[in-house]
Amino acid sequence: MRIPMMAGNWKMNCDNDEAWDLASAVCDEVEDVENCQVVLCPPFTALSTVEEAIEDTDLALGAQNLYWAESGAFTGEVAAKMLLSCGCEYVIVGHSERRGRFGEAPETGELLTVFGDNDATVNKKVLAALAADLRPIVCVGETIAERQAGQTDALIRDQVKAALAHVKAQDTEDVIIAYEPVWAIGTGEVCDAKEANRVCGLIREVLGERFGQESAQEMLVLYGGSMKPDNVRGLMAEEEIDGGLVGGASLKAESFAELVRAAAEEKSES
Ligand code: 13P
Repeated sequence: MRIPMMAGNWKMNCDNDEAWDLASAVCDEVEDVENCQVVLCPPFTALSTVEEAIEDTDLALGAQNLYWAESGAFTGEVAAKMLLSCGCEYVIVGHSERRGRFGEAPETGELLTVFGDNDATVNKKVLAALAADLRPIVCVGETIAERQAGQTDALIRDQVKAALAHVKAQDTEDVIIAYEPVWAIGTGEVCDAKEANRVCGLIREVLGERFGQESAQEMLVLYGGSMKPDNVRGLMAEEEIDGGLVGGASLKAESFAELVRAAAEEKSES
C-alpha cells in the first residue's frame, strides 16, 4: 500500500522570516492529517529554518537540487552531505526549470541552457543522493512541442530509464518519480486527470520493466503542474497518481493544506 505524498516545491521564494512563517502555518494546518507524507522543499538558504519549524512534526524536509561530487572546487554548488546536515531527507532532481527549460526563449536558446541539467547529470545526481541516503524526487515531463509531435511516451520512457541507470534494486523504495508536464507548470493549465494517470501508469510500467512489478507497485509516482485545491481531488482519485509536487499552491499554507487533506482522503477511500 502506497502512502500518498504532497511535496511543496517553494522554488526561489521565501527569505528566512517568510520560510519560518509558512512552514509553521503549514504545520498548524496539517497537524491532524494522517495518511499523507508532507515534504517541504524551501531554497537552500531556508533549509535550516524550516528544519527547526517542522521539528517534532511528521513533516519532512527536501532540497531543490544537489551536485554529485562530495566536495571540491564547484562554486555555488551543494553536496548531498551538506543537505543531510541541514536535516534533508529528500531532494528534487531534474526539475524542468533546471533541465534548461526555464523561460520562453526558444529562438535564442539563451535562457533555456542557463542551468543545463540533462539526462546524464540527472542520473549522476540521483546516484549521489541515494549513496548519501537522500530520497530523490526525480522530475520528468514533456514540453508542449514534444506533446504535439506525439513524442510524450517515448520521451518519458527515455527520461525515466536514463535517470535511473545503475540504480540498485534495493534502493528503489527511496526513489520517487514526479511527472511534471512542462506546459502545465505555473501556467494554470493542469493536465487532464485521466491523461496524467495514463502517463503515471506508463512511468510505473517502465519502473516495472526495470525493477520488477513488485517494486514498481511500491514506488511513488507524483503529478506536478498547476495542482490546485479545485483540481486536486480529480487527480488524486486516479489510481496511478500517488500525490503531488506543488509549486504555486504550496506557497499559501491554506491551499497547500487543502491539497494534503485531499490526498489523504482520496487515497484512504480507495
Ligand atoms: P506549479 O504548481 O506552480 O505549476 O509548479 C509545479 C512545479 O514545478 C513543482 O515542482
